[in-house]
Amino acid sequence: MTWRVIVGTLSFVLTMILFGYVAVSEQDRMATFDTAYQARQIETGGQLYESNCATCHGLDGKGSGRAPALNSPDLLAGNPPQRLKDAGWGGTLRDYIHTTVAGGRPQATVKFADYPERMPTWSQEFGGPMRSDQVDSVVAYVMNWALNYQNFTPAPEPTVVPVGTDITVELPAGDAAAGEQDVTTVGCTACHISVGGATTLGPAWLASSDPNDQGMGTRAPLRLEQSDYTGKATSGAQYLFESIVNPDAYIVPGGTHVGADGKSIMPHNYGTVLDAQKVADIIAYLESLK
Ligand code: HEC
Ligand code: HEC
Repeated sequence: MTWRVIVGTLSFVLTMILFGYVAVSEQDRMATFDTAYQARQIETGGQLYESNCATCHGLDGKGSGRAPALNSPDLLAGNPPQRLKDAGWGGTLRDYIHTTVAGGRPQATVKFADYPERMPTWSQEFGGPMRSDQVDSVVAYVMNWALNYQNFTPAPEPTVVPVGTDITVELPAGDAAAGEQDVTTVGCTACHISVGGATTLGPAWLASSDPNDQGMGTRAPLRLEQSDYTGKATSGAQYLFESIVNPDAYIVPGGTHVGADGKSIMPHNYGTVLDAQKVADIIAYLESLK
């Protein structure tokens, strides 16, 4: 009788070992299958890319006069890549690419507005020509280029050395033309729209027909002679420097000029975000407005 028990036990143990082996090798088999599936998907995606995308995005995604490069570190490298940062995209890179390919971009983004045509819609879901598995394949093909940038280190962000709030420091020579651009990019013109004295929140910078409303370059040194002047500047250029980095030193009288806290409504952080060159350029621009 005991040999039956022994054979029974043995076959049970053997069966379990066999099961275990199949379970383990099944994982391997699935992994191999996955890799093969991905390889096929990328291959199909490559063919779809060549016939549908290369005319605009160039062979190998190098870009052309019709569309931006896709095989490029600013799209595929970094975490998140630069273009996703610029777009304020919170999702994954794959989702960013998938969404763009599936839905297209009927509206140009600012950065790519100069391209003559818009990015077409590809998914049938949104009225395009591709099935969803074809969209997935072409996305897998584009994503595969990311392997080119695994060791890519993005250039470090330029560090700004802030100018600070001490208006006696010596500034570099200013460039009025650069300053004219800066006042728009920095956002000054949101408040200082200076057309013929018409302005929204801050004083106009251009002269108007009102004789008390000189251009900012003429007005700056005259401010120091006013009996109500409370600041510390000793020249027109310093007055402009002071107005930018320490708006409360002298508040130009005006109903809309102060907030509920009694301070100037001008941002108070320019001294910590602008570098000396930018401030010098802006001052040169303001001084040129006679
Ligand atoms: C008619 C030209 C054209 C064709 C064809 C085209 N695209 Fe585009 N694509 C564009 C343009 C233009 C943009 C930039 C759109 C914008 O942001 O305003 C763009 C943007 C993109 C972007 C986003 C790039 C980024 O950095 O934000 C991806 C991804 C993309 N295309 C993939 C594809 C794929 C994949 C195909 C083929 C299925 C394709 N495109 C076909 C013109 C084209
Ligand atoms: C949120 C609105 C706002 C922004 C943005 C702003 N300003 Fe002003 N600015 C004002 C107001 C209001 C005044 C008047 C109160 C005061 O003197 O602080 C003023 C005053 C000034 C003055 C003095 C004007 C005079 O007649 O004496 C100068 C110069 C000036 N700003 C330059 C700038 C520059 C340069 C920038 C960008 C770096 C800027 N401002 C951004 C609202 C703004």
